Amino acid sequence: MAQIKPVKAAVIGCGTISHIYMSNFKKFAVIDLVGCSDIIPERAQKRAEEFGVSAMTNQEILSNPEIEMVMNLTFPEAHYEVSRRILEAGKHCCVEKMMTVNFGEALELTELAKKKNLLYCAAPDTFLGGGWQSARKYIDDGFIGKPIGVAAVISCSYQPDTDTFDLDPDHFFFPLHPGGGLPFDLGGYYLHNMINLFGPVNRVSGFGGNIDPDRMYRNPSHPRYKEPFQVDTPTTLSGTLEFKSGVYGVILITSDASVYDSFSVHGSEASLHLFHPNWFSGPLILHRSGAVVDEERDTGKNTAEGYRPIPDQVRLPILHGYGENSRGLAMADMAYALRNNRRPRAHFDLGLHAMEIIHGMLESGRTGKVYRMATGCERPKPLRAGVKTGNAQEAALDD
Ligand SMILES: NC(=O)c1ccc[n+]([C@@H]2O[C@H](COP(=O)([O-])OP(=O)(O)OC[C@H]3O[C@@H](n4cnc5c(N)ncnc54)[C@H](O)[C@@H]3O)[C@@H](O)[C@H]2O)c1
Repeated sequence: MAQIKPVKAAVIGCGTISHIYMSNFKKFAVIDLVGCSDIIPERAQKRAEEFGVSAMTNQEILSNPEIEMVMNLTFPEAHYEVSRRILEAGKHCCVEKMMTVNFGEALELTELAKKKNLLYCAAPDTFLGGGWQSARKYIDDGFIGKPIGVAAVISCSYQPDTDTFDLDPDHFFFPLHPGGGLPFDLGGYYLHNMINLFGPVNRVSGFGGNIDPDRMYRNPSHPRYKEPFQVDTPTTLSGTLEFKSGVYGVILITSDASVYDSFSVHGSEASLHLFHPNWFSGPLILHRSGAVVDEERDTGKNTAEGYRPIPDQVRLPILHGYGENSRGLAMADMAYALRNNRRPRAHFDLGLHAMEIIHGMLESGRTGKVYRMATGCERPKPLRAGVKTGNAQEAALDD
């Protein structure tokens, strides 16, 4: 009888996002979550009680010979140091996005993982979700014809307007500092998904800047009302990407504008309108001349997404599992990679390539020249189609 030998795992960093991660880890048959740590011990204690695991220190996790892999859920500034220590301790590492706060540090850690023959994976892992895997299948199966281009806009407004701005990690001051700026934060989701759909990038160009480096706390209830502060990272970045596959991409990322997002891919015969890559699934709308919607049977009318059937637009079914909030999927995939001796889908070359694309856009803006990518990246292996319910969907990872 085939039986999974679960991989013993621990979490370092018990902040906001750790709850969904740990609750998902408890559901995967391939993961045996044994402990968690945080530099603020009460946070580790709280999660340990919630999930029935041990509250540990970082050192206890790193020196425990039974723990094979560790999920790094610290904030971006700590990613480099914590991941380095995990790898140096001889453990496989999965890190939340982005890998590090700059390309040089990411490169160093990937070299360390290679040298020590360890698996090193990086979020975002939404590209493994049902919506993104289905989008990929439709594109690979020719639904849009020959892929020509991909276009994305992600904008939001991180302004010092609330009375808690910068006082609490939940209120995100980090998007205004190097490595945590929106290009690295939400931009990473778009880039991972573009690479999943179209493969590696050859050349990059970009312009970016910071429309207002000198800002001021603007809420009268804030304890630092009217005090100035400096924003020391580009808050708006635009780029063009030349994929090796011949596809062209454009991306605009800004934390200086009102909230908006769009992600579309365009082929010789049709376009596919996708959803925010911060989510694992969402509506897939095919725009194809002559496409017919069977209005009587269409149930997409008046849904929460506001989709209305109109001529030439068809909502495509989702063909894969993991449409729900499945943060941690890359770690489960990494556990199967370990057990089945295969390449993990969120292999570090993907995270590193995404880091270099942002680096390349910034460099191109600085030098006025097109940036040629130094890293390559394998397009991650797709997941098997076939939606299964509950924990049965985990079988798709066991390949
Ligand atoms: N919050 C979100 O909605 C969200 C969503 C997706 C991804 N992420 C990513 O997840 C990661 C964590 O985000 P978060 O929102 O949970 O941040 P957070 O600030 O709420 O939590 C981070 C935790 O890491 C701990 N920590 C920092 N350095 C440490 C160290 N050296 N050793 C042990 N613990 C340490 C902090 O004390 C804190 O509890 C980030 O990389 C972020 O980009 C966050």
